Amino acid sequence: MSHKLFLLPGDGIGPEIMNEVKLIIDWMNSNVDVTFECDEGLVGGCAYDAHGVAISEEDMAKAITSDAVIFGAVGGPKWADVAYEARPEAGLLRLRKDLGLFANLRPALCYPALAESSALKRELVEGLDILIVRELTGGVYFGEPKEIVTLENGEQRAVDTQIYTTSEIKRIARVAFELAKTRSNRVASAEKHNVMRSGVLWKQVVSKIAAEEYPGTPLEHVLADNCAMQLVRNPKQYDVIVCDNLFGDILSDVAAMLTGSLGMLPSASLGAPDVVTGKRKAMYEPVHGSAPDIAGKGAANPIAMIASFSMALRYSFEMIKEAEMVDTAIANVLEKGLRTGDIAKAGDTVVSTKEMGAAVIAELNALK
Ligand code: IPM
Ligand code: MG
Repeated sequence: MSHKLFLLPGDGIGPEIMNEVKLIIDWMNSNVDVTFECDEGLVGGCAYDAHGVAISEEDMAKAITSDAVIFGAVGGPKWADVAYEARPEAGLLRLRKDLGLFANLRPALCYPALAESSALKRELVEGLDILIVRELTGGVYFGEPKEIVTLENGEQRAVDTQIYTTSEIKRIARVAFELAKTRSNRVASAEKHNVMRSGVLWKQVVSKIAAEEYPGTPLEHVLADNCAMQLVRNPKQYDVIVCDNLFGDILSDVAAMLTGSLGMLPSASLGAPDVVTGKRKAMYEPVHGSAPDIAGKGAANPIAMIASFSMALRYSFEMIKEAEMVDTAIANVLEKGLRTGDIAKAGDTVVSTKEMGAAVIAELNALK
């Protein structure tokens, strides 16, 4: 089997953490009956520096024809004054939109070895395993009008538009319910139906899908602000949380901190299955950003990036056994006490990005 990967390391710590994923890819090519062919492109600030845009047409075309895009991180203070259309994040948003990656899966797992690194008490987070299913191509991120206009009186007025259609809500709800069946089979749907029309429709449509197609899966509706509060009060009450693009952005950052560090959370962004081949377009990226403050220092935690590649093995290539090996390798490395700065407690020995990556490879060799 041969698969085409398109690597987009991006900015800041992106290239450093991508280097560790390349080692995992090489390991798979040498140890498993599979060939990953890698091509690499530019996205974000580095693409702007090279081409004046956040992603070039050539790299967009490569992303579209690849079997999976592996994405690092974009942005940094260097590009703070770039035009809005060319800002680094525009590259990421275009990839999500043009590849039709409407379903963003953000699992928040608390590894036992890291329960002490969480800002919450051990008993609240130990064994935590929740999955945030975030709608990724709609809502206020993409709704039009989206503008800043100058009024006659000289004031400026900014507008963003939150839009959801029935079909957009249905398809993300189905993803959440299907995934729930493979887990603890509970879904919580978060919205703001008390303030937003889109929340009213969201709640109605999710209820209908639940009643008609998934009667065996308990569904709870929760206001998004309450959901944020519940996530820090008693996060283990949740299994799958489904929500819109903006609430998903916020709730997944909260969920990330429960696991000990933003440097731990991977994500998969999936499109609809192709009608002929059944394959989904897909992009895998860590939830964290480009962390310009530690970029180039070899201090970044590569685990979210490596775990994102493990999600690629699972969701794009049906390599479940190998995905589980990578996940086990990560858990073992943490169990042995290896810590990058973001997950270290006082007294821990801090390892570099490369040392962490090498330790995961050593575990893979031990597991094979
Ligand atoms: C995320 C990020 C992005 C988002 C940014 C970088 C545009 O925060 O993936 O969570 O808001 O979606
Ligand atoms: Mg975010």
